[in-house]
Amino acid sequence: MTPSEPSLDPASALIPAGRTHYVGDLRLADAGQTVVLQAWVARRRDLGALLFLDLRDRTGICQVVFNQEKDTALHARAAALRSEYVVTVVGEVVRRAPETVHAGLPTGEVEVVATGLEVLNEARTPPFPLAEDSSETIGEEARLKYRYLDLRRPSMQQNLRLRHRVSQAIRRVFDEQGFLEVETPFLTRSTPEGARDYLVPSRVRPGSFYALPQSPQLFKQLLMVGGCDRYYQIVRCFRDEDLRADRQPEFTQIDVEMSFPHTETLFGIIEAMLHQACAVAGKTVTVPFPRMSWAEAMAAYGTDKPDLRLPAMVDVAAHVSPADLEQIYAQLKLAPGMPLLAIRTPAVGTLSRRERDELRPLAEGLPVKLFEDFGRIVKGFPEAGTAMSAALAGAESDLVVLVGAPEGSGLTRTQLQSHAGALRLVLGQRFADRHKLLDLNDFRFLWVTAFPMFEWNAEASDGGRWVASHHPFTSPLPEDVPLLESDPGSARALAYDVVLNGIELGSGSIRIHRAEVQAQIFRLLGMSEEEARQRFGFFLEALQYGTPPHGGIAVGLDRLVMLLAGATSIREVIAFPKTARALDLMVDAPTPVDAAQLRELGIKVRE
Ligand code: AMO
Repeated sequence: MTPSEPSLDPASALIPAGRTHYVGDLRLADAGQTVVLQAWVARRRDLGALLFLDLRDRTGICQVVFNQEKDTALHARAAALRSEYVVTVVGEVVRRAPETVHAGLPTGEVEVVATGLEVLNEARTPPFPLAEDSSETIGEEARLKYRYLDLRRPSMQQNLRLRHRVSQAIRRVFDEQGFLEVETPFLTRSTPEGARDYLVPSRVRPGSFYALPQSPQLFKQLLMVGGCDRYYQIVRCFRDEDLRADRQPEFTQIDVEMSFPHTETLFGIIEAMLHQACAVAGKTVTVPFPRMSWAEAMAAYGTDKPDLRLPAMVDVAAHVSPADLEQIYAQLKLAPGMPLLAIRTPAVGTLSRRERDELRPLAEGLPVKLFEDFGRIVKGFPEAGTAMSAALAGAESDLVVLVGAPEGSGLTRTQLQSHAGALRLVLGQRFADRHKLLDLNDFRFLWVTAFPMFEWNAEASDGGRWVASHHPFTSPLPEDVPLLESDPGSARALAYDVVLNGIELGSGSIRIHRAEVQAQIFRLLGMSEEEARQRFGFFLEALQYGTPPHGGIAVGLDRLVMLLAGATSIREVIAFPKTARALDLMVDAPTPVDAAQLRELGIKVRE
C-alpha cells in the first residue's frame, strides 16, 4: 500500500458505531441530520477543491461531498478512494443548490457533506463497469462469472427485492386461505414431468440413484391422501432439459394442491394470488381472468398459450357463401375444407411497397400459403370480401394477412392453426414498436381449459404411442371417459393452464383419485402392469386407502417475476442462474470428482 492510499483502519475511533441510513433513502426531510452511511463507492469525481462521491447500496445512490477548504486531510483520503471500495462516511445532509438538483435521482435534492471517512475494505478494479446503463454491453458470461458484482447493479437489486416481495405476498394469500406450507423431499425417485432427471448416486446402496424432483407432484397428492386438505410450497424443481430464456435446470414453482376441489374455487385462489403478486409490482389486473378451452385457443390463436394483446385470428371462410368459397379456394389454390385464417395486426398504417414485399418471405419454409395483400382479394371477390372484412371488425389502418393450407399439402387443421399462430406473433413483434402493440405493462391473463388428455408421440422407440399431455395423474373430463379406449386422441382432460402474455405461467389439473382409473391410464400410456407396479406401486397402493378427490396447479415463480420485472429472461430474476448450457460459471459446476469419491459410490466414468 502506498502512503497516499487510505489506511484500512485510521480514524475509525471517530466514527460512531452503526449505520443510520441506507443511502438511497435520504430525502429533503433529512436535511440538517448527521448520518452514518456504509456503502460502496460507485463513482468519484474530482473537481479540484471539491470531490464528489456517489455511494451505492441496495437502495440506490446518493452524493457525498468532500470540501478541501473545510478539511484538507479528509479530502486527501477521499481522493485515494477507488470504485467499489467499501466505506463508512459520516456527514451532514444538506439541501442541494437548485441548479445542482438531480431530478432523475430519488436522493437528488440532497447531498451529504462529509465530516468523517473510514475505509472498511478495498476492491480490485471490477472486470466490467457496474453503472446501470452498461448492462447491455457486458457479455452475459462475464455477468454470470462475476454474478456477485453484477448483483450490485441497481436493476438486479430491484429484481431480487421484487422477487422477495412477490413471494411474501403469495405466502400471505395462501396462509389466509388455509393452505399449509409443507416441505417435500429433494432426494427421491423419478417423477414423470417429461424431462430428464438429475440423478444422485447413493453411497449406501451402490448402483442405486435418487432422482431430484422434477416437481413435487406425487408428494403433494400423497399429502392429500394424508389428510392435509390444502397444501402449498414455494419449491425448487430440477429438470435436465433444453434451456431457453424462460427455462432453467433448477427453477422455482409455487406448488399447490387441494382436496375436494372445485375448479372455480381453485381458479379464484390462484387469481387472488396473481392479483396480489401484480399489486406488489404496481400492476392492476382484473379478475376473474377470461377462460377459453384448448380447442378455442387453437382455433383463434393457433397456440395453447395465446397472447391476448394481439387480436384473435378469424377463419374468414366461415363467413363466405359456399359458392364464393369454392371459387376463392380454386383461384388461390387452397385445400378445400380447411380454414382460411385472417391475421389482423392493429394500427400498422399504410405499408410501403417494400414493407409489403418483406412480408411474403415470412412464410418461406412453412407448409402454408400467406397472402399479404388482403385488399386485393377483397377487390377480386366484392361480395365475399365485404363479408370477410365485416367478420374481421378491424380498422382502416390495420394490417390483414391471410394464411391457408395449400392444395395437396395434407396439413391438419391444428398444424395450419399453429403455423398461422406463429406468424401472428411474428407480425405482432415486427410492428410492435409502432403502436405499443406488445406493451409490457399490459397484463393479459387467461385460463386455458379442457386440454387433450393424450398426444401421439410418433418418435417413440416402439413406433409411436400415446403420451400424457399434462402428466399421467390427470383426470379425464367425466363425459370423455368412454373415449379413453375408443378414441384416446379426442378425450379431453380436466387440465388447465394459466397464461400471461403468451407465456405459460402455470399448469395444473384435477387428479385421478381412484386406483383402477389410474391403472387404466398407465395401461393406455403403454405401461405394462409390471412396470406400473415397479415405478408407481407405492402410489397405486396409496390411492386404495380412501383418497379424496383432489387437484392443484404449479405456477412458475421465475416466469411470474420476470414478467412483473419487465425482463426478457428468467436469468434476470434468479440470483445465481445457470447458462443456456446448464453451467454455473461462477463456482464452475459441474466438475469432475475425485477417483476416491467415485470408488466410494461404486461409479466408474467411461473415457
Ligand atoms: P409443469 O411441468 O407444467 O407442471 O410446470 C409448471 C410450471 O413450472 C414452470 N416451469 C419452469 N420454469 C422455469 N424453468 C423450467 N425448466 C420450467 N419448467 C416448468 C412453468 C410451468 O407452467 N406437477 C405439475 C403441476 C401440477 O399438475 O400441479 C407441473 O410441474 O411456469
